[in-house]
Amino acid sequence: MLYSTHTHIFTWVVALILFFVALSLFKNGMAKQMKIVHMVLRLFYVLILITGIILFVNFGSIDHMMYGLKFATGLAVIGFSEMVLVKLNKGKSAKGVTIGLIISFIITLYLGFSLPIGFSFLA
Ligand code: HEM
Repeated sequence: MLYSTHTHIFTWVVALILFFVALSLFKNGMAKQMKIVHMVLRLFYVLILITGIILFVNFGSIDHMMYGLKFATGLAVIGFSEMVLVKLNKGKSAKGVTIGLIISFIITLYLGFSLPIGFSFLA
């Protein structure tokens, strides 16, 4: 199960949904509820990492460079997503990190879907 990409995809899709739920709670001034969703989102960061590392360890030798890049951009997505929510919470501008999040997310999707395991419709 963990050698296929389905579990990995499941973890980041749930994280994506939680990210938007946290954003909308923030926009509606529901800071307390947002904190709870943010905590659950952090748990999903860990699950994304675990499932990603399992894939990386098992298939990384197919192409060290591209799998290494996928690892790095995946980490960047998690980092930027965390920074967006923390900055919003602190009342700071999240413009730069939001752009970083969008760009790193697009690159990560492109790399993931073009690498050979699982869906490879961009290869
Ligand atoms: C939110 C962040 C992430 C997103 C959106 C994401 C997205 C994806 C996508 C779309 C795939 C392709 C699935 C398929 O072809 O069936 C994939 C595969 C993979 N991901 Fe991630 N990922 C993320 C984080 C990570 C992290 C942090 C790591 C490393 C620890 C990682 C390692 C991998 C590996 C090794 C694969 C297999 C590549 C292949 O298809 O051959 N990912 N990911």
